[in-house]
Amino acid sequence: MIIGGSSSQKLAANIAHEMDDVLCPIETRKFPDGERYLRIKGDVEDDVVVVQSTGYPQDENLMELFLILKTLREMDITNIRTVIPYFGYGRQEKSFNKGEAVSARVVCQLIEFAGASSVYSMNLHEQGICDLFNIPAYNLSAMPAIADYVKNNVEDPVIIAPDKGALGFAQEIAQILNCESDYLEKIRLSPENVETKPKNLDVDGRDAVIIDDIISTGGTIVNACGILTEHHASKIIVGCVHPVLVGDALLKIFSAGADDVVGTNTLKSEVSNVSVASLVADALKMDNNLG
Ligand code: R5P
Repeated sequence: MIIGGSSSQKLAANIAHEMDDVLCPIETRKFPDGERYLRIKGDVEDDVVVVQSTGYPQDENLMELFLILKTLREMDITNIRTVIPYFGYGRQEKSFNKGEAVSARVVCQLIEFAGASSVYSMNLHEQGICDLFNIPAYNLSAMPAIADYVKNNVEDPVIIAPDKGALGFAQEIAQILNCESDYLEKIRLSPENVETKPKNLDVDGRDAVIIDDIISTGGTIVNACGILTEHHASKIIVGCVHPVLVGDALLKIFSAGADDVVGTNTLKSEVSNVSVASLVADALKMDNNLG
């Protein structure tokens, strides 16, 4: 049985479809003062999959997830596999300055305390987040789904990582599609500002695909688009796993020369056109077989 939280309703339905399973009806709403109400309305069996992304509004989506998990535990459900397609607070996994909250660790502990038996997420910002859990935690890759999109929409692409941290994603896609990849050097000046160094790239007259895990303010991609335009790429396609897209990020990216922007449905957005449902379902099915 699959339970979809309010941030991942369609994805939960798609995962249920892929797994030939049923969706459990729930009621989730806000009281007039803003507090959340939750009721699990179905006849829940012992093996439940909960799907809830914890992107914006992060605190509300997390609270709803905690209410779902704890309520299931109180209903004596013992196996609660928890799919968190986008893991909010995942970017603060260590203390950089004295006294800073390690938010990712606090969130992991709360998810575990609320009752998750295991956690599945997509392209966590840091693989190390899995180690912050004392329950099995899996970091799945959405790159095969993005590669499929690129294969069907771009001829003879060259895959570009907008920074060294994204090179692994670009290489994963390049390996699937048997094409070239390269990366740019980026320095983050502040949460809103990044600088990308000029570099010689072999993209003249070619279709370039920029791949990143997250697009937040869009600054990273805007800089990459500028460099690819200077190098006369004939088309610029932008792909990401998590389209966070703060404010007018999408508009800035198109203004910088992107011809197409695509993201996955780990988060709802205007560009969430690639589904991770079958990748998640495959991982859950594999776990079924192992269990
Ligand atoms: C950074 O390490 C990430 O991979 C992304 O490049 C970053 O989160 C994107 O942020 P923004 O869109 O604000 O430049």
